[in-house]
Amino acid sequence: MNTSELSRQFTDRYGQAENPLRTFYAPGRVNLIGDHTDYSGGLVFPCAINYGTTLLIRKSKQAAFQLASTNFDLFAVLSKDQANQKYGDHWINYPLGVLQQFENAGFELGGIECLFSGNVPNGAGLSSSASVSVLTAYALNALFQCGLDDLTLVQMAQRAENEFVGVQCGVMDQYAVTMGQRDHAMMLDCQTLDCEQVPLVLDDAAIVLINTNQRRELSESKYNERVTETQEALRRVSQHTGIDALAQLSPQQLIDCRLMFADAQTVYSRAMHVVTEHDRVKQAVTALRNKDLESFGRLMFESHDSLRDDYDVSSDPLNALVDIARDTAGVLGARLTGAGFGGCTVNLVRSDHVQSLHDNVERYYQQQTGLSASIYRITPSDGVQEVTG
Ligand code: GLA
Repeated sequence: MNTSELSRQFTDRYGQAENPLRTFYAPGRVNLIGDHTDYSGGLVFPCAINYGTTLLIRKSKQAAFQLASTNFDLFAVLSKDQANQKYGDHWINYPLGVLQQFENAGFELGGIECLFSGNVPNGAGLSSSASVSVLTAYALNALFQCGLDDLTLVQMAQRAENEFVGVQCGVMDQYAVTMGQRDHAMMLDCQTLDCEQVPLVLDDAAIVLINTNQRRELSESKYNERVTETQEALRRVSQHTGIDALAQLSPQQLIDCRLMFADAQTVYSRAMHVVTEHDRVKQAVTALRNKDLESFGRLMFESHDSLRDDYDVSSDPLNALVDIARDTAGVLGARLTGAGFGGCTVNLVRSDHVQSLHDNVERYYQQQTGLSASIYRITPSDGVQEVTG
C-alpha cells in the first residue's frame, strides 16, 4: 500500500490533528546461512529484504496507546496499565513489548496513534515480527527523542520478544532488520556483536525464497525447547573446556567431549549442528568473497541437512522444497531459513534457471504435500529508517 493511501486510512481512523504525522519503515530479513546459532553465540549471515512494514505514528492528546493495522482487523485502545499485559496471541504484543521496554528504561511515553501496514508474509521465517518490534522501537525513539543508539534499540526489541512475547530468540533478526544495507549481507558474531557487511555480489545468480505455506504449529514451544537443549549442551562442556558460548567449540572439540553426552544423544546432536553451522558460515563467507558460488551453495545444502537431522527443525514440506531444488539444474544451494518448522526455503539459483525452479515447484510440490507454494525473488535492502517526503 502506498504512503498516501496509508495517510488517508490513518486520517479516516484518527482524524486530523496538529501533531505531525511521521512515517517509518523496517524491512524483514532472510538468513542466507547460520540458523539456530545466534543464541549459542555463533555466526549468522542474514540480509534485510525488500519486503517490510510501514508505521504511521503521531503523538496524541489522550494518554492511550492506539494501535491499528491494515493487515488485521483489531483496533486496540489501551491505557498504560492495559498495555503492560499480554494481549492473547495477537500481533500487537510486539509493539506492546517494546513500549514496556521503554517504560522499563525510564522513559515516560505519552499517548500515540499508530497504523501499521506490512507485506512480509507472516509465519514465513522472514521476521515479520522483528520488523514490527524494531520499527516500533525506532519510531518511539525518534518521536519521544529518547536519544538511544541503534544497537540499544536492537537489544530492546529482542528483549521485548524474550520477556513479553515469551520467545527466547537470539539477536539476529532485530539486528538484521536494523542494520541491513542495500546489496550487502551481514556476517554477525552474535557473541561479540562484531559485524561485517559483505557485498552480496551474485553476478548471474539470484536469491529466491519459496514459502511452504505450511501452518506452523507449536513452533514457539519447540523453539524454546531447542534453546534449552543448547543451554544443557553448554552446561555439560563448559566446565571441561572453559567456553562460555557453545559456538566457541570446534566440531573436533565437541567430538572429543562426546563421552559427556553418553546419556544425552539428542543434546549432542543439537550441539553438533551449532558448531558445524558456525563453521559453515565462515566457509560460506570466504567462498562468497572468492566468487565461488558453487561452494556457497553446497554449504547451504549441508546446512539444511544439519537443521533437518541434527537440529530437527525441518518439516516434510521444507524437505520437499529443498529436494526439488536439489534436483533442478542451475540451483546452487537451498535450505530452510529462520526458525524452521515451516516457513520458507532460501535458494541460490543461476538466473537463467529461476524459471525451471518455478516449473519444478509447480509440478511436484503440491503433488507431494497437498500444499501450494509461493515464490518471491528478493534483493538485499536497507534497514529501518524514517520515510520522508
Ligand atoms: C528465529 C529467531 C532468531 C534465530 C532464528 C534461527 O528467527 O528469532 O533469533 O534464532 O530463528 O536462526
